[in-house]
Amino acid sequence: MTFNPLQEKGIPLEKQIRSWHDIVKRPFNKYEVDCYSRTRQILMNGIEVEAWNFKHNLSRTCSDPETRKIIALSRRIEDMQQTTVNWLTPACQTVLETTLGYEQVAVDLTAWLAQNEPDDYVRETFNFGLLEDFDHLYRYSQWAYMMDGIDPNEILQGMTDVVVSRPTQNHHNCNALRLRRHYDRMTAEPQTKVNIYTLVSGEQQTHNFYAEHGMMYPNDDLRRTYGEICDVEEEHVTMYESLIDPAETPYEKLLLHEFTEVCNYYNCYKDEEDDKLKQVWEEFLGFELGHLQIAVELFKENEGRDPEEVIGNKVVLPCHFESQKEYVADILENEIDKRLAPDDEMSYTTIDKLPDDWKSYNVQEKVGLEGAPTEETIRLIRESINRDIVSADMKLIHKQPDLIKRGLEIIAQAPNTVDYEDYKQMDKVDLMQF
Ligand SMILES: [Fe+2]
Ligand SMILES: [Fe+2]
Ligand SMILES: [Fe+2]
Ligand SMILES: [Fe+2]
Repeated sequence: MTFNPLQEKGIPLEKQIRSWHDIVKRPFNKYEVDCYSRTRQILMNGIEVEAWNFKHNLSRTCSDPETRKIIALSRRIEDMQQTTVNWLTPACQTVLETTLGYEQVAVDLTAWLAQNEPDDYVRETFNFGLLEDFDHLYRYSQWAYMMDGIDPNEILQGMTDVVVSRPTQNHHNCNALRLRRHYDRMTAEPQTKVNIYTLVSGEQQTHNFYAEHGMMYPNDDLRRTYGEICDVEEEHVTMYESLIDPAETPYEKLLLHEFTEVCNYYNCYKDEEDDKLKQVWEEFLGFELGHLQIAVELFKENEGRDPEEVIGNKVVLPCHFESQKEYVADILENEIDKRLAPDDEMSYTTIDKLPDDWKSYNVQEKVGLEGAPTEETIRLIRESINRDIVSADMKLIHKQPDLIKRGLEIIAQAPNTVDYEDYKQMDKVDLMQF
């Protein structure tokens, strides 16, 4: 089924104020929730945070009193939605468990978006980021075992692999190099715009979650690991948001934000099997259709253009979650040595073609001076159980030494790097039975 959101009225804004008891619902059961219900919940929280934050920024730069009034009203609804969605998280779900959920979102969402992205360059950028979040999942999985004593599959439920990817110490780039070529707002497809708005919201919330929670653990190595990965998420926000055409007008951006919310809630509603969550997605889809109507009117009044030029006339699916193991393994094997090219085209290259004065080497040398926390992570787990925690097809697991050989830069390596020989040794140790 597909529909044209422009033809729906949705729930009017004045009917979107709810009671505190309705806003703060009973959380889900972390032992029973489907992993993809949890990823939807994590993503939609990020979407709402972005909606709320965008509307504050819009108000701060908008001089039209009517726009400011209506934005103030709908902004409060976004905030209430955010509370509802995020607070479905049960108090007993640990920060590390939630973290595994965040990286599962990043991996399986980015893989879905890449396969449904019409623009080749945008797809290439999604695939580039994909391998980095895939490595974060591997590093955090070690900590989930060391701190909480859990198998990562208690969260991932066997749907997402856990193996080494492009090593995190190589994700630290000159942030200016992270900037990508932006799409053209007049010619880009609505799918491309919604894909990027969705991913930016997810990555931004991942950054914020690490920034706000990494210090909640007393262990210094884990705190530093959160610090290191949080900084990569900043690079991810920088990278993905730079794909957006900066010439989009404020009203165009408002339209795109509401449309992105509509598409995501619609996709969640369509896929959800948990009755309680499905109800939330359905109700909030109605809210967002109401917001979209408002954005359409503001856009028409202020720009005199047809909203279809910006968002088309049908809903797109930006967040279908399903296991992406095959796709991710394929990108992993073919693109682990990919890097940001130091050229004016903002293109990609491979490690062997990097010049010695590549700007990211400078950053990597400085931040990894006393060792990379994400490398220390693997040293610590090896101390504990003689190898790393992994979960994948045995064929893929045995490829780890080779992957690290191809995926690790030689220049600017952290002094505590876990290298090819170390992975060879670990590969000889039987996998732990949990
Ligand atoms: Fe919203
Ligand atoms: Fe990540
Ligand atoms: Fe990320
Ligand atoms: Fe909204």
